[in-house]
Amino acid sequence: MQNDILLKALNHEIVPRPPVWLMRQAGRYLPEYQRIRSEVGFLDLCNNPELAVEVSLQPYKRFNTDAIIVFSDILLPAQKMGLELAFTDDGPRINNLISSEADIKRLQIPLANEETYPTLTAINLLKKVAGEKVPIIGFSGAPWTLFCYMTEGYSSANFNRAKTFLYANPQAAHQLLSKITNTLFLYLTMQVNSGANILQIFDTWAGILSLEDYKTFALPYLKHLISDLMPLKTPIILYTNNSHHLLSKLSMLKVSALSLDWRCNLQDVRDNFGTNIGIQGNLDPTILLTDQTIVREKTKQMVTAVKNWQVGYICNLGHGVLPSTPVENVHAMVDTVFEFANEAVLAGT
Ligand code: CP3
Repeated sequence: MQNDILLKALNHEIVPRPPVWLMRQAGRYLPEYQRIRSEVGFLDLCNNPELAVEVSLQPYKRFNTDAIIVFSDILLPAQKMGLELAFTDDGPRINNLISSEADIKRLQIPLANEETYPTLTAINLLKKVAGEKVPIIGFSGAPWTLFCYMTEGYSSANFNRAKTFLYANPQAAHQLLSKITNTLFLYLTMQVNSGANILQIFDTWAGILSLEDYKTFALPYLKHLISDLMPLKTPIILYTNNSHHLLSKLSMLKVSALSLDWRCNLQDVRDNFGTNIGIQGNLDPTILLTDQTIVREKTKQMVTAVKNWQVGYICNLGHGVLPSTPVENVHAMVDTVFEFANEAVLAGT
Protein backbone atom coordinates (compact mmCIF):
# COMPACT_ATOMS: atom_id res chain seq x y z
CA MET A 1 0.00 0.00 0.00
CA GLN A 2 1.44 3.37 -1.03
CA ASN A 3 0.31 5.27 2.03
CA ASP A 4 0.15 3.08 5.13
CA ILE A 5 0.92 5.79 7.67
CA LEU A 6 -2.42 5.29 9.41
CA LEU A 7 -1.90 1.55 9.69
CA LYS A 8 1.59 2.20 11.06
CA ALA A 9 0.28 4.62 13.68
CA LEU A 10 -2.38 2.12 14.73
CA ASN A 11 0.35 -0.47 14.99
CA HIS A 12 2.36 1.90 17.21
CA GLU A 13 5.22 2.21 14.75
CA ILE A 14 7.06 5.53 14.69
CA VAL A 15 5.73 7.84 11.95
CA PRO A 16 7.25 11.07 10.54
CA ARG A 17 3.97 12.98 10.90
CA PRO A 18 0.59 12.09 12.36
CA PRO A 19 -1.85 10.47 9.93
CA VAL A 20 -4.95 12.55 9.30
CA TRP A 21 -8.51 11.90 8.23
CA LEU A 22 -11.82 13.38 9.35
CA MET A 23 -14.99 11.86 10.71
CA ARG A 24 -17.79 12.67 8.24
CA GLN A 25 -15.17 13.72 5.72
CA ALA A 26 -17.72 12.95 3.02
CA GLY A 27 -20.87 14.99 3.34
CA ARG A 28 -22.85 18.14 2.93
CA TYR A 29 -19.99 20.66 3.22
CA LEU A 30 -18.66 19.37 -0.13
CA PRO A 31 -20.36 20.88 -3.22
CA GLU A 32 -19.69 17.67 -5.18
CA TYR A 33 -21.61 15.73 -2.48
CA GLN A 34 -24.48 18.23 -2.60
CA ARG A 35 -24.67 17.76 -6.36
CA ILE A 36 -25.25 14.04 -5.98
CA ARG A 37 -27.61 14.49 -3.02
CA SER A 38 -29.77 16.93 -4.98
CA GLU A 39 -30.75 13.98 -7.13
CA VAL A 40 -30.58 11.01 -4.74
CA GLY A 41 -32.05 10.53 -1.25
CA PHE A 42 -29.60 9.79 1.56
CA LEU A 43 -30.66 6.16 2.07
CA ASP A 44 -30.67 5.51 -1.66
CA LEU A 45 -27.16 6.92 -1.80
CA CYS A 46 -26.00 4.61 1.02
CA ASN A 47 -27.60 1.64 -0.73
CA ASN A 48 -26.14 2.38 -4.18
CA PRO A 49 -22.58 0.99 -4.18
CA GLU A 50 -21.34 2.94 -7.23
CA LEU A 51 -22.59 6.27 -5.88
CA ALA A 52 -21.43 5.44 -2.34
CA VAL A 53 -17.95 4.76 -3.74
CA GLU A 54 -17.96 8.04 -5.64
CA VAL A 55 -18.93 9.95 -2.50
CA SER A 56 -16.39 8.07 -0.33
CA LEU A 57 -13.65 9.08 -2.76
CA GLN A 58 -14.59 12.78 -2.88
CA PRO A 59 -12.69 13.91 0.24
CA TYR A 60 -9.73 11.70 -0.65
CA LYS A 61 -9.48 13.30 -4.09
CA ARG A 62 -9.68 16.80 -2.67
CA PHE A 63 -7.49 16.55 0.44
CA ASN A 64 -5.44 13.37 0.00
CA THR A 65 -6.50 12.13 3.43
CA ASP A 66 -4.62 9.15 4.87
CA ALA A 67 -7.73 6.96 4.74
CA ILE A 68 -11.02 6.52 2.94
CA ILE A 69 -14.06 5.79 5.09
CA VAL A 70 -16.83 3.99 3.27
CA PHE A 71 -19.95 6.11 2.84
CA SER A 72 -22.86 4.67 4.79
CA ASP A 73 -24.59 5.27 8.12
CA ILE A 74 -24.56 3.58 11.51
CA LEU A 75 -28.35 3.22 11.40
CA LEU A 76 -28.52 0.91 8.38
CA PRO A 77 -28.17 -2.29 10.45
CA ALA A 78 -31.18 -1.17 12.54
CA GLN A 79 -33.18 -0.95 9.32
CA LYS A 80 -32.00 -4.38 8.20
CA MET A 81 -33.05 -5.78 11.61
CA GLY A 82 -36.61 -4.67 10.82
CA LEU A 83 -37.06 -1.02 11.74
CA GLU A 84 -38.55 1.62 9.45
CA LEU A 85 -35.80 4.15 8.97
CA ALA A 86 -36.10 7.50 7.25
CA PHE A 87 -33.80 10.52 7.02
CA THR A 88 -35.55 13.87 7.21
CA ASP A 89 -34.15 17.41 7.24
CA ASP A 90 -34.04 17.06 11.04
CA GLY A 91 -32.01 13.86 10.95
CA PRO A 92 -32.91 10.19 11.29
CA ARG A 93 -36.40 8.98 12.24
CA ILE A 94 -37.45 5.46 13.20
CA ASN A 95 -41.20 5.01 13.02
CA ASN A 96 -41.74 1.60 14.63
CA LEU A 97 -39.73 2.10 17.82
CA ILE A 98 -38.75 -0.74 20.11
CA SER A 99 -40.84 -0.47 23.25
CA SER A 100 -41.54 -4.02 24.39
CA GLU A 101 -40.11 -7.53 24.54
CA ALA A 102 -42.46 -8.53 21.71
CA ASP A 103 -40.88 -5.84 19.52
CA ILE A 104 -37.44 -7.23 20.31
CA LYS A 105 -38.53 -10.78 19.46
CA ARG A 106 -39.68 -9.61 16.03
CA LEU A 107 -36.25 -8.21 15.18
CA GLN A 108 -34.04 -10.27 12.92
CA ILE A 109 -30.33 -10.82 13.07
CA PRO A 110 -29.74 -10.34 9.35
CA LEU A 111 -27.21 -12.40 7.47
CA ALA A 112 -24.40 -10.14 6.38
CA ASN A 113 -24.13 -10.39 2.61
CA GLU A 114 -23.99 -7.97 -0.30
CA GLU A 115 -27.72 -8.28 -0.88
CA THR A 116 -28.57 -7.14 2.65
CA TYR A 117 -25.77 -4.62 2.88
CA PRO A 118 -24.82 -2.85 -0.38
CA THR A 119 -22.12 -1.17 1.74
CA LEU A 120 -20.18 -4.45 1.48
CA THR A 121 -20.18 -4.12 -2.31
CA ALA A 122 -19.07 -0.51 -1.92
CA ILE A 123 -16.12 -1.60 0.26
CA ASN A 124 -15.22 -4.21 -2.32
CA LEU A 125 -15.24 -1.63 -5.11
CA LEU A 126 -13.25 0.87 -3.01
CA LYS A 127 -10.70 -1.82 -2.40
CA LYS A 128 -10.34 -2.27 -6.14
CA VAL A 129 -10.02 1.40 -7.04
CA ALA A 130 -8.07 2.72 -4.04
CA GLY A 131 -6.96 -0.24 -1.94
CA GLU A 132 -3.38 -0.05 -3.15
CA LYS A 133 -3.18 3.62 -2.24
CA VAL A 134 -4.68 4.09 1.25
CA PRO A 135 -6.50 2.04 3.85
CA ILE A 136 -10.28 1.67 3.70
CA ILE A 137 -12.13 2.21 6.97
CA GLY A 138 -15.31 0.25 7.63
CA PHE A 139 -17.54 1.13 10.57
CA SER A 140 -20.60 0.53 12.69
CA GLY A 141 -22.26 2.05 15.70
CA ALA A 142 -21.59 0.54 19.11
CA PRO A 143 -24.40 -1.62 20.54
CA TRP A 144 -25.36 1.06 23.08
CA THR A 145 -25.55 3.88 20.52
CA LEU A 146 -27.72 1.77 18.21
CA PHE A 147 -29.91 0.86 21.20
CA CYS A 148 -30.39 4.61 21.76
CA TYR A 149 -31.75 5.19 18.26
CA MET A 150 -33.82 1.99 18.19
CA THR A 151 -35.66 2.89 21.40
CA GLU A 152 -35.76 6.69 21.03
CA GLY A 153 -36.28 7.00 17.29
CA TYR A 154 -34.32 10.19 16.65
CA SER A 155 -31.29 12.19 17.83
CA SER A 156 -32.76 13.45 21.08
CA ALA A 157 -30.73 15.62 23.46
CA ASN A 158 -30.90 13.29 26.44
CA PHE A 159 -32.28 10.03 25.08
CA ASN A 160 -34.69 9.87 28.00
CA ARG A 161 -36.76 7.18 26.40
CA ALA A 162 -33.71 4.97 25.80
CA LYS A 163 -32.48 5.43 29.36
CA THR A 164 -35.93 4.87 30.83
CA PHE A 165 -36.06 1.60 28.91
CA LEU A 166 -32.82 0.49 30.62
CA TYR A 167 -34.07 1.25 34.11
CA ALA A 168 -37.67 0.09 33.69
CA ASN A 169 -36.95 -3.02 31.68
CA PRO A 170 -33.33 -4.10 32.17
CA GLN A 171 -33.91 -7.69 31.09
CA ALA A 172 -35.44 -6.70 27.79
CA ALA A 173 -32.71 -4.10 27.35
CA HIS A 174 -30.09 -6.84 27.64
CA GLN A 175 -31.96 -8.95 25.07
CA LEU A 176 -31.98 -6.07 22.62
CA LEU A 177 -28.32 -5.20 23.22
CA SER A 178 -27.39 -8.81 22.66
CA LYS A 179 -29.30 -8.98 19.36
CA ILE A 180 -27.69 -5.75 18.19
CA THR A 181 -24.23 -7.07 19.14
CA ASN A 182 -24.75 -10.26 17.13
CA THR A 183 -25.92 -8.23 14.14
CA LEU A 184 -22.91 -5.92 14.32
CA PHE A 185 -20.46 -8.78 14.68
CA LEU A 186 -21.67 -10.37 11.43
CA TYR A 187 -21.72 -7.04 9.63
CA LEU A 188 -18.24 -5.91 10.75
CA THR A 189 -16.75 -9.30 9.99
CA MET A 190 -18.07 -9.08 6.45
CA GLN A 191 -16.75 -5.54 6.10
CA VAL A 192 -13.27 -6.89 6.79
CA ASN A 193 -13.86 -9.83 4.43
CA SER A 194 -14.93 -7.33 1.77
CA GLY A 195 -11.71 -5.36 2.12
CA ALA A 196 -11.88 -2.97 5.10
CA ASN A 197 -8.39 -2.51 6.59
CA ILE A 198 -9.56 -0.74 9.73
CA LEU A 199 -12.84 -0.70 11.68
CA GLN A 200 -14.17 2.27 13.60
CA ILE A 201 -16.94 1.72 16.14
CA PHE A 202 -18.97 4.83 16.99
CA ASP A 203 -20.28 5.00 20.55
CA THR A 204 -21.54 8.54 20.13
CA TRP A 205 -23.93 8.37 23.08
CA ALA A 206 -21.55 6.66 25.55
CA GLY A 207 -21.32 9.84 27.62
CA ILE A 208 -24.99 10.03 28.59
CA LEU A 209 -24.59 7.01 30.91
CA SER A 210 -23.00 6.99 34.36
CA LEU A 211 -19.94 4.78 34.74
CA GLU A 212 -22.05 2.20 36.60
CA ASP A 213 -24.72 2.08 33.90
CA TYR A 214 -22.10 2.02 31.15
CA LYS A 215 -20.49 -0.96 32.89
CA THR A 216 -23.85 -2.73 33.11
CA PHE A 217 -25.40 -2.00 29.73
CA ALA A 218 -22.78 -0.86 27.26
CA LEU A 219 -19.32 -2.13 28.11
CA PRO A 220 -20.05 -5.90 28.23
CA TYR A 221 -21.46 -5.81 24.69
CA LEU A 222 -18.67 -3.65 23.37
CA LYS A 223 -16.09 -5.93 24.97
CA HIS A 224 -17.79 -8.98 23.54
CA LEU A 225 -17.94 -7.44 20.07
CA ILE A 226 -14.30 -6.37 20.15
CA SER A 227 -12.99 -9.68 21.42
CA ASP A 228 -15.03 -11.60 18.83
CA LEU A 229 -13.48 -9.39 16.13
CA MET A 230 -9.92 -9.96 17.39
CA PRO A 231 -9.23 -13.05 15.22
CA LEU A 232 -9.66 -10.84 12.13
CA LYS A 233 -6.46 -9.02 13.18
CA THR A 234 -7.90 -5.72 11.99
CA PRO A 235 -7.18 -2.56 13.97
CA ILE A 236 -10.23 -1.14 15.72
CA ILE A 237 -10.75 2.52 16.62
CA LEU A 238 -13.43 3.28 19.22
CA TYR A 239 -15.10 6.70 19.13
CA THR A 240 -16.83 8.00 22.23
CA ASN A 241 -18.19 11.43 23.01
CA ASN A 242 -18.27 13.17 26.38
CA SER A 243 -16.68 10.14 27.99
CA HIS A 244 -14.16 11.46 30.52
CA HIS A 245 -15.74 9.47 33.31
CA LEU A 246 -15.50 6.24 31.29
CA LEU A 247 -11.88 6.47 30.19
CA SER A 248 -10.41 4.17 32.82
CA LYS A 249 -12.69 1.39 31.53
CA LEU A 250 -12.47 2.27 27.83
CA SER A 251 -8.68 2.22 27.99
CA MET A 252 -8.80 -1.45 29.01
CA LEU A 253 -10.58 -2.49 25.82
CA LYS A 254 -8.47 -4.23 23.23
CA VAL A 255 -8.75 -1.49 20.62
CA SER A 256 -5.87 0.09 18.72
CA ALA A 257 -7.00 3.63 19.45
CA LEU A 258 -9.59 5.65 21.32
CA SER A 259 -11.09 8.48 19.29
CA LEU A 260 -11.95 11.27 21.72
CA ASP A 261 -13.89 14.49 21.57
CA TRP A 262 -12.48 17.98 22.18
CA ARG A 263 -13.38 18.02 25.87
CA CYS A 264 -10.65 15.48 26.57
CA ASN A 265 -7.11 16.67 27.07
CA LEU A 266 -5.13 14.27 24.91
CA GLN A 267 -1.95 14.79 26.91
CA ASP A 268 -3.75 13.85 30.13
CA VAL A 269 -4.93 10.70 28.41
CA ARG A 270 -1.31 9.98 27.39
CA ASP A 271 -0.07 10.65 30.92
CA ASN A 272 -2.66 8.35 32.39
CA PHE A 273 -2.56 5.48 29.93
CA GLY A 274 0.80 5.82 28.19
CA THR A 275 1.49 5.06 24.54
CA ASN A 276 0.04 1.56 24.82
CA ILE A 277 -3.31 2.88 23.75
CA GLY A 278 -3.45 4.94 20.56
CA ILE A 279 -5.40 8.19 20.54
CA GLN A 280 -7.34 9.88 17.76
CA GLY A 281 -8.76 13.37 17.70
CA ASN A 282 -9.77 15.86 18.76
CA LEU A 283 -10.15 19.28 17.20
CA ASP A 284 -13.49 20.87 17.95
CA PRO A 285 -15.36 20.78 14.58
CA THR A 286 -16.53 24.32 15.33
CA ILE A 287 -12.94 25.50 14.84
CA LEU A 288 -13.35 24.58 11.18
CA LEU A 289 -16.06 27.24 10.95
CA THR A 290 -13.49 30.03 11.59
CA ASP A 291 -10.72 30.79 9.11
CA GLN A 292 -7.57 29.17 7.75
CA THR A 293 -5.18 31.05 10.05
CA ILE A 294 -7.03 29.96 13.17
CA VAL A 295 -7.44 26.40 11.87
CA ARG A 296 -3.69 26.16 11.17
CA GLU A 297 -2.79 27.51 14.59
CA LYS A 298 -5.22 25.26 16.49
CA THR A 299 -4.16 22.19 14.51
CA LYS A 300 -0.50 22.82 15.32
CA GLN A 301 -1.31 23.40 18.97
CA MET A 302 -3.27 20.18 19.13
CA VAL A 303 -0.49 18.04 17.65
CA THR A 304 2.39 19.59 19.60
CA ALA A 305 0.45 19.22 22.85
CA VAL A 306 0.55 15.44 22.45
CA LYS A 307 3.86 14.23 23.81
CA ASN A 308 5.24 11.45 21.60
CA TRP A 309 2.78 12.16 18.79
CA GLN A 310 5.18 10.07 16.68
CA VAL A 311 3.71 6.96 18.32
CA GLY A 312 0.05 5.98 18.19
CA TYR A 313 -1.49 9.38 17.52
CA ILE A 314 -3.98 10.11 14.72
CA CYS A 315 -5.10 13.59 13.84
CA ASN A 316 -8.86 13.98 13.46
CA LEU A 317 -11.78 16.01 14.74
CA GLY A 318 -13.53 15.45 18.06
CA HIS A 319 -16.77 14.76 16.15
CA GLY A 320 -17.95 14.89 12.53
CA VAL A 321 -17.40 17.77 10.08
CA LEU A 322 -20.28 20.25 10.38
CA PRO A 323 -22.36 20.85 7.23
CA SER A 324 -21.53 24.59 7.04
CA THR A 325 -17.74 24.04 7.16
CA PRO A 326 -15.83 25.96 4.46
CA VAL A 327 -13.91 23.49 2.31
CA GLU A 328 -10.70 25.55 2.47
CA ASN A 329 -10.64 25.18 6.25
CA VAL A 330 -10.57 21.40 5.94
CA HIS A 331 -7.71 21.87 3.48
CA ALA A 332 -5.91 24.06 6.02
CA MET A 333 -6.23 21.42 8.74
CA VAL A 334 -5.06 18.51 6.60
CA ASP A 335 -2.20 20.48 4.98
CA THR A 336 -0.96 21.68 8.37
CA VAL A 337 -0.60 18.06 9.43
CA PHE A 338 1.17 17.17 6.18
CA GLU A 339 3.67 19.98 6.77
CA PHE A 340 4.30 18.76 10.25
CA ALA A 341 6.99 16.27 9.33
CA ASN A 342 9.19 19.01 7.84
CA GLU A 343 8.66 21.34 10.75
CA ALA A 344 9.29 18.63 13.31
CA VAL A 345 12.56 17.81 11.59
CA LEU A 346 13.54 21.50 11.46
CA ALA A 347 12.73 21.96 15.13
CA GLY A 348 14.72 18.86 15.98
CA THR A 349 11.83 17.11 17.70
O1 CP3 B 1 -17.47 9.73 7.94
C1 CP3 B 1 -17.88 9.58 6.78
O2 CP3 B 1 -17.57 10.35 5.84
C2 CP3 B 1 -18.72 8.35 6.48
C3 CP3 B 1 -20.12 8.52 6.57
C4 CP3 B 1 -20.89 8.58 7.88
C5 CP3 B 1 -22.18 9.15 7.93
N1 CP3 B 1 -22.70 8.91 9.16
C6 CP3 B 1 -22.84 9.83 6.82
C7 CP3 B 1 -23.98 10.71 7.09
C8 CP3 B 1 -20.61 8.07 9.14
C9 CP3 B 1 -19.34 7.40 9.66
C10 CP3 B 1 -21.77 8.29 9.96
C11 CP3 B 1 -21.88 7.83 11.34
C12 CP3 B 1 -23.05 8.23 12.12
N2 CP3 B 1 -24.34 8.37 11.70
C13 CP3 B 1 -23.04 8.45 13.52
C14 CP3 B 1 -21.83 8.31 14.42
C15 CP3 B 1 -20.95 9.47 14.35
C16 CP3 B 1 -21.58 10.76 14.85
O3 CP3 B 1 -21.70 11.66 14.02
O4 CP3 B 1 -21.91 10.83 16.01
C17 CP3 B 1 -24.35 8.77 13.92
C18 CP3 B 1 -24.83 9.09 15.33
C19 CP3 B 1 -25.16 8.70 12.76
C20 CP3 B 1 -26.63 8.90 12.68
C21 CP3 B 1 -26.97 10.04 11.82
N3 CP3 B 1 -26.87 10.03 10.45
C22 CP3 B 1 -27.47 11.30 12.23
C23 CP3 B 1 -27.72 11.71 13.66
C24 CP3 B 1 -27.66 12.04 11.06
C25 CP3 B 1 -28.30 13.40 10.98
C26 CP3 B 1 -27.38 14.47 11.36
C27 CP3 B 1 -26.64 14.96 10.16
O5 CP3 B 1 -25.45 15.18 10.26
O6 CP3 B 1 -27.32 15.14 9.16
C28 CP3 B 1 -27.25 11.24 9.96
C29 CP3 B 1 -27.24 11.61 8.53
C30 CP3 B 1 -25.95 11.52 7.81
N4 CP3 B 1 -25.04 10.51 7.94
C31 CP3 B 1 -25.48 12.44 6.82
C32 CP3 B 1 -24.26 11.93 6.37
C33 CP3 B 1 -23.37 12.50 5.29
C34 CP3 B 1 -26.21 13.64 6.31
C35 CP3 B 1 -27.28 13.17 5.39
C36 CP3 B 1 -27.56 14.05 4.22
O7 CP3 B 1 -26.83 14.01 3.21
O8 CP3 B 1 -28.58 14.75 4.28
